[in-house]
Amino acid sequence: MILITGGAGYIGSHIALKLLEESDRKIVIFDNLENGHMSTIKTLQSVRDFDFVKGDLKNQDDLENLFRNFDIDSVIHFAACICVEESVQNPRKYYSNNLVGTINLLNKMLDHDVKKIVFSSTAAVYGEPKYVPIDENHPKQPINAYGKTKFMAEEILDDYDRAYNLKSIRLRYFNVAGSDSKNRIGESHDPETHLIPNILASAADSENVFNLFGTDYATRDGTCIRDYVNVEDLASAHISALQYLSEKNQSDCFNIGTKNGNTVKEIFETCKKITEKEIKVKINPRRGGDPESLVANNEKAKKILNWCPKKTLEDTIKTAYAWLKK
Ligand SMILES: NC(=O)c1ccc[n+]([C@@H]2O[C@H](COP(=O)([O-])OP(=O)(O)OC[C@H]3O[C@@H](n4cnc5c(N)ncnc54)[C@H](O)[C@@H]3O)[C@@H](O)[C@H]2O)c1
Repeated sequence: MILITGGAGYIGSHIALKLLEESDRKIVIFDNLENGHMSTIKTLQSVRDFDFVKGDLKNQDDLENLFRNFDIDSVIHFAACICVEESVQNPRKYYSNNLVGTINLLNKMLDHDVKKIVFSSTAAVYGEPKYVPIDENHPKQPINAYGKTKFMAEEILDDYDRAYNLKSIRLRYFNVAGSDSKNRIGESHDPETHLIPNILASAADSENVFNLFGTDYATRDGTCIRDYVNVEDLASAHISALQYLSEKNQSDCFNIGTKNGNTVKEIFETCKKITEKEIKVKINPRRGGDPESLVANNEKAKKILNWCPKKTLEDTIKTAYAWLKK
């Protein structure tokens, strides 16, 4: 049985959906529902029945009951707080939830002899890019508490492999976007800090002004460049990672991105074209801590995981807009 922590959230639910539809593996989702949605769990259960446990990684009893009650053999660990700005203002929350929560989970895995985990890491582990596209050997100097919790968790995973033979695949996602192409589940964060849903929210509501931060970067149109990876493509990367773990039983890390960078203005224009709406925009100065360009070198995932992103930016924005309208 596969344990999915954080499976009521945006990304975890898309991976759960793929496993429910395309495999016969049993799954159990564990989520405290602080940022996840019970409605998402209900939608997933209408696809194929599975177990859901409401619980918190910070609570040892919740974890002990989980591992006692279910015959878990591998874990996909999404549960975390994800807001970079909040992590700078309230690092305590991030170290307690993301780092202590992850340590609790890993220790419970060891107690119950579960030795395989796919871990949601992030491009934020790299910090300010020294070169682009960023490969997995790029220096790791995270510049905010969110990125540091993920970096530290990766280091712990290395130590747990050396000492206890616990094998992990760390997937370092770049900017994840889009939703289920059948529009059953999608991205619903509160507050929403991600670019595409924010532009689309402004398209859907003429009172809602889109705030663009920084037009003086040394990029082709002055706005920041990011690498937007489709959430269904990301789900495929997790399936490949699970397969790699079970076949090779080796730890590794992979960038999950498209290798295509898009500027904020390009995303804005594509959203305008797809929604056929005028979108009100306010130009603001740069925000602190926003690197000019973050683009993945994804050759390693292509070669070793045999993974390749398939969706276009248009596909991604269309599904995100369909979900927002629903
Ligand atoms: N969204 C992105 O673009 C992106 C990029 C890089 C990495 N990631 C990583 O992917 C993972 C999933 O991100 P998301 O966008 O789906 O976030 P999300 O907030 O939608 O989902 C996270 C889920 O984890 C649950 N959770 C949080 N802390 C918990 C705890 N202590 N115990 C139990 N459940 C808990 C929340 O209730 C939520 O359902 C995170 O680890 C995040 O750091 C996301």
